[in-house]
Order: sequence, then structure tokens, then C-alpha cells
Amino acid sequence: MDKKLIAPSLLAADFGNLQRDIEMVNLSKADWFHIDIMDGVFVPNISYGMPVLKAIAKHTTKPLDVHLMIIDPDRYIQTFADLGAAHLTVHYEACTHLHRTLQGIRAAGMKTGVALNPHTNINLLEDTINDIDIVLIMSVNPGFGGQSFIENTYGKIRALKELIDKRGAKTIIEIDGGVSTVNSKKLADAGADVLVAGSFVFKSDDPTRTIEELKESVDS
Ligand code: DX5
Ligand code: ZN
Repeated sequence: MDKKLIAPSLLAADFGNLQRDIEMVNLSKADWFHIDIMDGVFVPNISYGMPVLKAIAKHTTKPLDVHLMIIDPDRYIQTFADLGAAHLTVHYEACTHLHRTLQGIRAAGMKTGVALNPHTNINLLEDTINDIDIVLIMSVNPGFGGQSFIENTYGKIRALKELIDKRGAKTIIEIDGGVSTVNSKKLADAGADVLVAGSFVFKSDDPTRTIEELKESVDS
């Protein structure tokens, strides 16, 4: 993919002013809304659930990129489809029957995503890569925003890109965790197509401008 995409993660938004923050993303240069769903079991944190997501979905004008950090995600595929998710990303580590899960996501009309924890090798996707629209490489351990970027991510992106090309797949690569303008260009050069950014966007003085800066940093 030539054009690089930016996906602000709403996890870092001000939940007391959620509508304002959603509106900011709607009017910004962002491409997707990144939505983190945590169950307190797969990851040691709970984010928000269906009633909140329903309210978010009502106000967003950009594709909902849903990142499920939950066990047994198959139970909720239809629920997220009904909520209007454009992409549904499940964790490799949470799926016993990944191929079946991917089929379920496609059948429900969404794009398929598979997320890999920092310790999970990209070669484990060799037999499913042609069924995956998006591979999300976690560049922090999932569960919390505001953590430090793991440097090993660049090598993983390059190896994944090689696998995608070798298999003739159309899969795009998304990076999630600790993304900022310090690493965005290097990530894009390594082969990343989509950058998720939470704290860097929402904790900045001018989030709209920060999204623009991220965009500009990868556009060259
Ligand atoms: C972490 C989430 C991320 C998180 C990123 O488990 O998947 O999407 O919101 O936040 P930052 O950009 O602050 O690392
Ligand atoms: Zn995420």
C-alpha cells in the first residue's frame, strides 16, 4: 500500500469529553478510528464495552478499526458486525481455531485482522496470511496506552513484509503501541502501512495538528 494511514486510538481520549474527541478525529486527517476492547482476562485491563462502543459508533464518520484483546472472540463477531465495525482484529494468541475465526469475520462482512503480541513470531501466520487483510504487530505488550515502543518491531515488520510478498498476499501491516513522530518514518520505511497512536495524539496540546504531523512524517 503506497498511502500510509493513521489510526488514533480512542483509548487515550478524554472519556468525559468523548463526543468532542470523536468530533476532533472526524474533522482531522486521520484515516481510521482505532477501538481497543479489553476483557480483563486476555490482558490485565478492561477498557469499555458495547454500550459505550454503540455511542461511539453513532458519532464516528471514519472506519471503525476494532482491536479485540479478549479470549474467545468468536462469541462476539456478529455483535461487532452489527455495531458497524469495518475491521475486526483478533489476537493470534487468543484463537484456538484462527482459520475458522477469520472465516467467521469475513462471513459477517468485515475485514479480517490478526494481532501478534511482541513475543509471537510472524512465521506463525504462514498458513493463514492469504486470509488476513490486516496484521497488527503489537509494539508494546497489550493492555495499556502510554508504554514505550519495543525496538525489535522494525525487524518484525521487514520479516512480515517478506512473508506477505512471498505468498502473494494483499495483507497490510498495522503497528500499535508507543507510536510517535520519533519512530513513524522508520516504521513506514520498514513496511508499515497503518500507524495507531493513542497518547501521542490525545495527550498532545493540539491533537488535530499532531495527527497532521504524523501524516506528514510518513508521506514523504
Ligand atoms: C494497547 C492498545 C493500543 C493503545 C496504544 O493495548 O492496543 O491501541 O491504545 O496507545 P499508545 O499509542 O499510547 O501506546
Ligand atoms: Zn490497539
